[in-house]
Amino acid sequence: MVFHKELIHWYLQNNRSLPWRKTKDPYFIWLSEIMLQQTRVAQGLPYFLRVTEAFPTVFDLAKAEENEVLKLWQGLGYYSRARNLHYTAKHIANELNGVFPDNYKTLLKLKGVGDYTASAIASICYNEPVAVVDGNVYRVLSRYFGIQTPINITKGIKEFKELAQSLIDVKNPGNYNQAIMDFGALHCKPQNPLCDSCMFSESCIAFNSDLVKELPKKEKKLKVKKRFFNYLVVVTDTNETILEERKGKGIWEGLYQFPLIETEKYIDVNELIDLDDFKNLFSKETSIKLFNKKEIIHKLSHQHLYTQFWIVNTSFIKEATTNWKEIKKQPVPVLIDKFLNEFLKLEK
Ligand code: ADE
Repeated sequence: MVFHKELIHWYLQNNRSLPWRKTKDPYFIWLSEIMLQQTRVAQGLPYFLRVTEAFPTVFDLAKAEENEVLKLWQGLGYYSRARNLHYTAKHIANELNGVFPDNYKTLLKLKGVGDYTASAIASICYNEPVAVVDGNVYRVLSRYFGIQTPINITKGIKEFKELAQSLIDVKNPGNYNQAIMDFGALHCKPQNPLCDSCMFSESCIAFNSDLVKELPKKEKKLKVKKRFFNYLVVVTDTNETILEERKGKGIWEGLYQFPLIETEKYIDVNELIDLDDFKNLFSKETSIKLFNKKEIIHKLSHQHLYTQFWIVNTSFIKEATTNWKEIKKQPVPVLIDKFLNEFLKLEK
């Protein structure tokens, strides 16, 4: 059984009659594919009709005011799609004489056109054999081939794109792409798929291994935690500072750091000197300056560290035992190393 033949056979009997399927004009295909991202066909259809009525050509869309486009888009969500659409219409009308690029690679250069949209337009309008991978395709392929790789990680995205590409009907790529999307939307549905009447039921791995409900797999993205770090960078009159070993479990255990005060939010200098942790360390007169004028956000896999380096000049404190000349000898987190590079450059 040839996978693409079965799909196209199914499509010829079951495809949805949709206005953009009556044409190969890239303007209409582009509009429909942008609208249908993150949107079901039933929801997108009235928008397609309204937008094409208001702007029958790419020149009409290019001439429109952005507000007009946004108004027509209202309710469809993801408004950056509408802004990019308008931008690209102006680009095509004004720079390309209204002619769309005619292949995957150049389509991809248009603003708002990613792998999915470029593949859809190139295959439907220009017969280029490039496979689309949308939510429907992930579902059909992961179930049929029993693929457990999560679809929202780089490895999965690559694996599914390659598989989809290997399955495409090179003679009929536009129909094949639309067939697999329709099959996913109408037959191999997320809930209650029609397995009992499926032409693939003998060869579908998920069906035969009772995995239909579990596929496709998605990796749970952990919520990124925001933390606010205040490092106290001491500079004494005799050029010493405080550098202490980071205690406790964690990725930076054993590395050295300036005294750290963690807060619930960004603080200003008055809030800083009011903190007990600050008062406990500095009983003497200090002068304090925020080093980084620009926001420093250090991104780790599960946390973003919003960091402020406070330069604290003071006469003498007993905790300051590291000479500034020695400081680069200690192992420090990258966040602190980057600061030191900047700071020492300015001090020279
Ligand atoms: N979803 C988005 N574009 C589609 C298309 N051209 N055919 C079927 N489903 C789609």
